[in-house]
Amino acid sequence: MDDQVLHVNGRPLPVTSPPATPLLDVLRDELGDTSPKPGCREGRCGACTVLLDGEPVLSCLLPLARALDGEVTTAAAEDVATGPAARLPEVRAAFARAGAVQCGICTPGMVMTTCALLAEHPDADRDRIREGLVNNLCRCTGYQKILEAVQTLAAPAPDGGPRDG
Ligand code: FES
Ligand code: FES
Repeated sequence: MDDQVLHVNGRPLPVTSPPATPLLDVLRDELGDTSPKPGCREGRCGACTVLLDGEPVLSCLLPLARALDGEVTTAAAEDVATGPAARLPEVRAAFARAGAVQCGICTPGMVMTTCALLAEHPDADRDRIREGLVNNLCRCTGYQKILEAVQTLAAPAPDGGPRDG
């Protein structure tokens, strides 16, 4: 398998893992991007979440073959100009500011899901945020600080009307 190219964080990277290899393992073990975390490895915790063409995916369940035609973005991405991950720096900063990071295992997945959530619902209210992050589990923070972090990024509706909910 030496003619596969995986696009990660704007870079085309040759990969040799078998096509059925979970994307999580390709990113971590072959490409050295340890930002997606191996939590449950069963699709239940969200710690492995990355974006594929701007949509959150569980990289522990996604075979490499399904990612080869797309653009993968991880929490380690820098200087993303467009798309949901363009807000990565401010999302990371908001989590840090709110004290929403303790052990940090859930954080990269939370951050990537938040980018996608805010792209779809820039004025998300607390219920929408809670719903958007429902598949990302955190054992440490009790979620309040995470919700607060994301709320600081969600702009009110421009007309002053009710926020998206
Ligand atoms: S490690 Fe993928 S959902 Fe838990
Ligand atoms: S900060 Fe530890 S699991 Fe969320």
